[in-house]
Amino acid sequence: MSTIVEEDIQHVRQQTNIVDIIGEHVTLKKSGRTFRGLCPFHNEKSPSFHIDHAKQLYHCFGCGVGGDVITFLMKHEGLDFREAIEYLARKIGYTLNLEKTGNSGMRSGLLKACEEATCFYQRQLAGKAGTAARKYLAERKLEDLSEKFRLGFSPDWDSLIKFLKTKKLDGQMIGAGLAVRSERGRVYDRFRGRLIFPITDNQGRPIAFGGRVLDDSMPKYLNSPETPLFHKGSVLYGLHQAKNDLIRTDTAIIVEGYTDLLALAKHGITNTVATLGTAFTADHLKFLSRFVKKIVLVFDGDEAGLKAAERSSGYLDLARLPGHEVFNELVDKVETEILVAVLPISYDPASLIMKEGRESFQARVSGASPLINFLIDRIIQRHGAKKSGRVISAKEATRLISSLPSAVAQEEYMRYLADKLDLTYETITQEIFQSKRKLKDAGDEKKSDRSSAEREFLKLILQYPEKADAIEKVCIEEWAESDLKELGIFIKSMTGSERKTITDSLHGIDSSLQGLLSKLMIESLPVNDIEKYFRDIVLKLKELSLDHQIKLLRKELKEIKNEDKQSDQIFEKLLKLEHKRRELKEYAKDGGDS
Ligand code: CTP
Ligand code: MN
Repeated sequence: MSTIVEEDIQHVRQQTNIVDIIGEHVTLKKSGRTFRGLCPFHNEKSPSFHIDHAKQLYHCFGCGVGGDVITFLMKHEGLDFREAIEYLARKIGYTLNLEKTGNSGMRSGLLKACEEATCFYQRQLAGKAGTAARKYLAERKLEDLSEKFRLGFSPDWDSLIKFLKTKKLDGQMIGAGLAVRSERGRVYDRFRGRLIFPITDNQGRPIAFGGRVLDDSMPKYLNSPETPLFHKGSVLYGLHQAKNDLIRTDTAIIVEGYTDLLALAKHGITNTVATLGTAFTADHLKFLSRFVKKIVLVFDGDEAGLKAAERSSGYLDLARLPGHEVFNELVDKVETEILVAVLPISYDPASLIMKEGRESFQARVSGASPLINFLIDRIIQRHGAKKSGRVISAKEATRLISSLPSAVAQEEYMRYLADKLDLTYETITQEIFQSKRKLKDAGDEKKSDRSSAEREFLKLILQYPEKADAIEKVCIEEWAESDLKELGIFIKSMTGSERKTITDSLHGIDSSLQGLLSKLMIESLPVNDIEKYFRDIVLKLKELSLDHQIKLLRKELKEIKNEDKQSDQIFEKLLKLEHKRRELKEYAKDGGDS
């Protein structure tokens, strides 16, 4: 018997958003911090099902059910707890770690070791061994932050492991990344002579450490290795301390360094988190978007800093994302605005705020450019503004823009690009059009479900002409396959009796369609239960039509954004359609059973 490890459950909970998950089953409309929709657990016409995005909970004021994303999946999809976790893990492409039952004490042991180590390092900083580290902190004017961030100092070689032995935690110190075993088998402290920054989980429990030298020696920073508790790419430094301020300000400032975060906190800017020398990832974004509407990525200003940012930090990762499904999904679903602030040459957030003060830093944050504008600017910078560079820039930037899901946003950025490149809007539009065609070719398979239903429907009414009147009910106008659609419209235009004898008068049909017609007439159909097959196909087409209308409305709703009358009307319409779709599904189920 194995169980999913506790940290994975936490991880999966943190990385998934209840709004996304429920949004796959229920159409939701945002109003303030809540999302509303029709309750999937009882039948209703007006939405009393609410989701609190910040709390990650749902509740229906109609029938009283409520809970978190896991209980939702358990109830709605009939999963058990474990299956719900597995479902969520699949959604984020995460592989769950399993541990043997009875071994779950392992993590709590590691957590305990990290907690004890934190206390130990804190005491060292306060005591005699910490004199130099305290002086260093004082020079950087960061001493008042020691307590809040539980800063510490690691003395030499074996003092931590000796201490952990007295706590009977010697079995955990290597696993927790606190001690290292040499090739000769000797065990010693990982962090020696370093200022210690404990890295905590969401609940404020230390899970890893960063350590900085007090002088110019190398490496400047040493971090804990990956451990069962610590996955570098999904942790943000300072999150626990910042959480309330993130919610209060609705904004997260992302910096790269421990000291950047501390220096900002020193100046009262506390809605800040730091990546740990890694990229700002889609995981980070998804997680933060639960708390904030706006994320400002702050990058060091020199070209080296920017390059480093491109290489090792957020920029490159995000730059690569556009056009990828993840990015589209994020931009589509996560309504969080992402902005980029680049600091003046040779400044980082810490040095800027220390030298120039809070206002100067705030001004950079308020002047941050939206991510896409920033990316467009970088593209143009990279290729230069000369003629040949402009062509490459235009192509590269339009590829980026055409990958964005919102038409409104696309237009906005096209205008921006045109302006920047000193080209006309029309030229850019043309470029976009070409680039879109290429994208479209790649993503068209989804149609096949629909086209096979369309095809089967026509086969049925051609081979069983007495059923041909059903053509009134299947929304031919929306069909996807142009040949099938044309033939369908032709049949629809006939009178009832003409339809019954359709196969008798093939010559009335446009010659280009005759081949198709005869093919459909002879292609085989499943023979055992034609009635059921026919009913299913008609239902399928109705459902697809509803899906299509719902999708269009959802898109419209999203593009309106504000909460005016028009959006309420669209929402009402959506609810009706959703209701209809549900009835249709119920009906299909009943029909299938009987
Ligand atoms: N980093 C790291 N290992 C290194 C260098 C950097 O893990 N050898 C990570 C640390 O998380 C660090 C961040 O990258 O905080 C930013 O690096 P840098 O700008 O060099 O350090 P600062 O945070 O600015 O530190 P300081 O102000 O003390 O120079
Ligand atoms: Mn720095």
